Amino acid sequence: MNLHSLLVACLATLGATSQACETDEDCSLNGLCRRQSPWSKLGEKSCKCDPGWFGEDCGHLDLRPAIKDNGYNHSADAVDSMHLGLYGNSSWGGTVVQDPQDPSLFHLVAAQFASGCGLSGWRPFSFIIRAESRNGPQGPYHYAESISEPFRHNPEVIWSPADEKYLLYSIGADDEEQPREKCASISYKRWPNNISVSTAPDIRGPWTPFKLVLASADPHSTNPSPWPLWTPQTRTSKIALGVEDIAIFLFDRYDSAYELVHTQSWNTSEYSPTWTEDSFLWRDKRGHWHALAHWMIDLVEDGQKWPRVGAHVFARELTGPWHLHLHEAFNSTVTYSDGTVRTLKRRERAKIFFSNDGEMTPLYLVNGVQEMGEGSRSSTFVQPIGEAWKDFEKRLGF
Ligand SMILES: *[C@@H]1O[C@H](CO)[C@@H](O)[C@H](O)[C@H]1NC(C)=O
Ligand SMILES: *[C@@H]1O[C@H](CO)[C@@H](O)[C@H](O)[C@H]1NC(C)=O
Ligand SMILES: *[C@@H]1O[C@H](CO)[C@@H](O)[C@H](O)[C@H]1NC(C)=O
Ligand SMILES: *[C@@H]1O[C@H](CO)[C@@H](O)[C@H](O)[C@H]1NC(C)=O
Ligand SMILES: *[C@@H]1O[C@H](CO)[C@@H](O)[C@H](O)[C@H]1NC(C)=O
Repeated sequence: MNLHSLLVACLATLGATSQACETDEDCSLNGLCRRQSPWSKLGEKSCKCDPGWFGEDCGHLDLRPAIKDNGYNHSADAVDSMHLGLYGNSSWGGTVVQDPQDPSLFHLVAAQFASGCGLSGWRPFSFIIRAESRNGPQGPYHYAESISEPFRHNPEVIWSPADEKYLLYSIGADDEEQPREKCASISYKRWPNNISVSTAPDIRGPWTPFKLVLASADPHSTNPSPWPLWTPQTRTSKIALGVEDIAIFLFDRYDSAYELVHTQSWNTSEYSPTWTEDSFLWRDKRGHWHALAHWMIDLVEDGQKWPRVGAHVFARELTGPWHLHLHEAFNSTVTYSDGTVRTLKRRERAKIFFSNDGEMTPLYLVNGVQEMGEGSRSSTFVQPIGEAWKDFEKRLGF
């Protein structure tokens, strides 16, 4: 190390320590606020981030280069014989599930648009599919089966240890008019965003008929994101459900009585500076709560919907107080493993696939994405986070 780089390194260290934190909230509950070394000045602490997060407040997802031909992208393929539109099997995000019996098999439970209709025809054309990857968690995934008919959208599936079943939450209604004659959308006034649940003992089904759990008369009823409260120590069947605006409902059981336990205090009206949608809720290894949401920061500052598109919020208790740091948790600029960089027009429906070793290390981010210039063609994108995914894939033989 020459003198100049030593000096730069020293200044960088000083810079880091001057950004002191006081509580773990200052580290987004994604790390600990600690004195880094015995040499630092008394009382001066900084954030030590958990794997997968970075930044002075540990509030940024550490996204790593993505594989180009990844996720579930059949937006340019030929579609079913009933096709009405030009957008292949366009899709809009989903949950990655590792097969419990066959750990090198990955499933993706995703929202797909029927008849080549694409994202702009999401209501009524969206339905739920299961795709499979034998190439590892990043894909590419291939269509395996349909889990529902249109209209079902926004699926999120999670294993419930208390019920020993997969719970599949989504919004939707039965479409009596199928088959349809053109790609056209339906107003939410006709089909409100009611939330329903279906369950299955196996990811391949059989799935029970969808049962309505949260009607549109309830505030924030759309974009469900479940998280079971069950732990080995507390064997409860209670399920937390994050919904629009990161409001939180608590269910006694996946399909039973519920109460609204929290609404956020920030202004979430349409396109306000703190407007968000698409909650993704989880509890970390310390028992603290987090959510990601789609939050278009650039929309407020310069009228475009990219690249700063993700918010992270966190709380020690489900009922709050919830905190939001006023910067993006991730953006839509993707670096690929071949060195190219591309900014996506839309990157929404964020869901994280975590390690199952008890550490809850984020391994992959899954999104519904749309490229620049596209109005309806969309696909489901998977991007690795941090370093831990490398070992995870290696142990599975990828
Ligand atoms: C997007 O986020 C990455 C970190 O994941 C960062 O390196 C990059 O500078 C960001 N790009 C933009 C345009 O904000
Ligand atoms: C999806 O696939 C098409 C066709 O191969 C490709 O042009 C497009 O870039 C892919 N989209 C994404 C987001 O990777
Ligand atoms: C597209 O989806 C249909 C189901 O709607 C399926 O039958 C077909 O195999 C899929 N094609 C591709 C290329 O994924
Ligand atoms: C959706 O919820 C509303 C009440 O908000 C109810 O009137 C309607 O029947 C529900 N629709 C479906 C398809 O469950
Ligand atoms: C919320 O944001 C909207 C849009 O920016 C604005 O019109 C409204 O006055 C805000 N409400 C509050 C309570 O701040």
